[in-house]
Amino acid sequence: MCGIVGYIGRRDTAPLLLEGLQRLEYRGYDSAGIAIQSPGTGKAAGGLKTAKTKGRVRDLEDRLPKRFAGTAGIAHTRWATHGAPNDTNAHPHLDSAERVAVVHNGIIDNAADLRAKLAADGVTLVSETDTEVLAHLIAAAQAESLEARVQEALRHVEGTYGIAVLHADFPDRIVVARNGSPVVLGIGENEMFVASDVAALVSHTRQVVTLDDGEMATIKAGDYRTYTTEGSRTSSSPETVEYAAESYDLGGHDTYMHKEITEQADAVDRVLRGRIDDRFATVHLGGLNLDPREARAVRRVKILGCGTSYHAGLIGAQMIEELARIPADAEPASEFRYRDPVVDPDTLYIAVSQSGETYDALAAVQELKRKGARVLGVINVVGSAIAREADGGVYVHAGPEVCVVSTKCFTNTVVSFGLLALHLGRTRDLSVKDGKRIIEGLRRLPGQIAEILEQEPQIEKLAKEFADARSMLFIGRVRGYPVALEASLKLKEVSYIHAEAYPASELKHGPLALIEPAMPTVAIVPDDDLLEKNRAALEEIKARSGRILAVAHQEQEKADRTIVVPKNEDELDPILMGIPLQLLAYHTALALGRDIDKPRNLAKSVTVE
Ligand code: F6R
Repeated sequence: MCGIVGYIGRRDTAPLLLEGLQRLEYRGYDSAGIAIQSPGTGKAAGGLKTAKTKGRVRDLEDRLPKRFAGTAGIAHTRWATHGAPNDTNAHPHLDSAERVAVVHNGIIDNAADLRAKLAADGVTLVSETDTEVLAHLIAAAQAESLEARVQEALRHVEGTYGIAVLHADFPDRIVVARNGSPVVLGIGENEMFVASDVAALVSHTRQVVTLDDGEMATIKAGDYRTYTTEGSRTSSSPETVEYAAESYDLGGHDTYMHKEITEQADAVDRVLRGRIDDRFATVHLGGLNLDPREARAVRRVKILGCGTSYHAGLIGAQMIEELARIPADAEPASEFRYRDPVVDPDTLYIAVSQSGETYDALAAVQELKRKGARVLGVINVVGSAIAREADGGVYVHAGPEVCVVSTKCFTNTVVSFGLLALHLGRTRDLSVKDGKRIIEGLRRLPGQIAEILEQEPQIEKLAKEFADARSMLFIGRVRGYPVALEASLKLKEVSYIHAEAYPASELKHGPLALIEPAMPTVAIVPDDDLLEKNRAALEEIKARSGRILAVAHQEQEKADRTIVVPKNEDELDPILMGIPLQLLAYHTALALGRDIDKPRNLAKSVTVE
C-alpha cells in the first residue's frame, strides 16, 4: 500500500524513478509524485525540484517539466489514508523553505497533535496528510547531520513508517528509515536504489538489503550504511533477490491477472518441488521449525489471514482437520486481533499472507507472540515482516504477484496447506497409504491445472453470458464453501458485480428469497460424499427459475451451464475448483471494461489498519 522509490548515482534520476513507480503502482494508484536534487553541491546546490499529481504514474510523466535533471531523487505512488487524493496531498511533502522532501508509507498516529504543535509554532501546513509533519520536523531539527535530524524528528512520531528523505543541504545522500513499512536498499555499481518493494529495483540490481523495524540507512552513490534510530551501527549483508526482473513483467499478457492465472501449473510445480519424501509418504518443510514431538503436542490449529489469504486458511483448516485430525479453524486476522482472544499454549497459530506485510495479520502475530504463542507463517514474500516475525513456516513460492487481486498465490497457499496437513498427519495418525494417496494427488495438480486453463475460451463465453448480472450468488458445502467465498470475492473485486457466498446448506434459511432469473447462482458441486445434497440445492434453485452455473466433476443436469474440472482426491478438490472461477471473474471484468490489475479503491499489501 503506497510505493516508495529512490535513486542516487550518476544516471539521470527522473526516468529511473518513473520506471520504479510504474512497477510499484499496484501498491497504490490515486496520486504520484517525485522530488529530485538539482545538480550542485552543499549550500550552493540547486535545491529540490518536485512534481506531483492526482492520478496515475503516466499522469505524472505527462506533467514532468522538460528540465528535470538530477542525480538523486525520491518518488511515491499513493493510496490515500489521510486526506483526499489530490495534487496537494500527493507525496513528496516539503517543509516551508522547500529544503526537505519526504515520501512516506504507513500512518503517523499522532499526526493531529503534531500538526497542532507545528501550527502553534507558526508553521503553515499545506496538505491534509500525516506525512507533511515529518518534513517540517526534519527542517526544524537542530542536529548537524541529516541522519541526526531525521532521528530527532522520528522521536516525536508514533505510528508506522517507511520513509525516504532528501535534503537540499545534503545532496550526496538519501536517508531512509523503517518502522512497520518495508524499506529495501538496492546495491548497484556506483549507484544505490531504495524502494518499498524489490519490484522497483530488480531490473537494476538483484543485490538487496532489507531494513528491520527501527533501522535506518544512508545511501550515497557509491556506498551505504545502516544504523538504528538511536544511531548504533547495524550489520547488514546483502541478499540476492530470488526472482529475475522478467518475473515482474507482463510477459506478453495484457494484464498481470491473466499472466498470474496462467502461471499456476508452474507455480504449483515449484511449491511441491524438493519437498515430497516418497519413502515415508511425508514431506520436508525446511523452515517449519516444528519437530515431530512438538507437532504431536499440538492440540488445536488456528489460522489467521485477511481476504483471499483468510479464504485459503479456511481450506487449510479443513485439510488439517481431515488429514491430521487436529481441530482447526480460520478467522480473519483483523477480527481476531480486536477481540482480546484467549491465547492457548497448546494451539499452533498460523498466519497466512501473500505479501507478509498486511498490517492486521502482522499485528495479530505480534500480539500472539507477546502472549507466548507459537506462530508459523504461510507466506509468499521471502523475508517479509510476518515471515521475520514468525517462529517458522512455509514459503508458498508463487513468485511475484503484481495484480492487486490475488490468484496464483491463493492456489499455492492452499497447496502449501496440503503439504503442511500431510506433514502434521504423518507425525500423528495418517497412514502411509493415505499419505501416498495425497502425495499422488498433489503431483497430479499441475497437469490438472493445465487442463482447466485449456478451457479458457469456453469460460470466456460463459463470462459474457453472465456479465449482465447485477448480483450473483455463490454456494458450496463444506469443502466447496471457502471456494465459493473466494470466487465471490474475486468477482466483486475485479468486475464490481455484487456477489455473495453462502453455504449451500443455508439456502433455505434465507438466501432462496433472492433467487430469480436475474440473480444467477454459481454452485460448487464436487463429486464427493455431499454430491446428492449439492444436487438437491440445484433443484431448489431451478424450481425458482434461477440460472445456474455449476463447477463440478461431471455435467450437472439441473445447471444451465457446467464447467467440468478434473477430479483429484476429495481433500484436494478445492484447489482445482476455484481456478475456472478466477478465469470467470477475469473475463467478466474484461467484458465490462474494468481496470483489471488496479480495481477501484483497492491496493495490494494493506499495510494500514
Ligand atoms: C484479494 C486480495 C486481498 C488480500 C488481502 C490479504 O484478491 O488480494 O483480499 O488477500 O488483502 O493480503 P496478504 O495475503 O498480502 O496478507
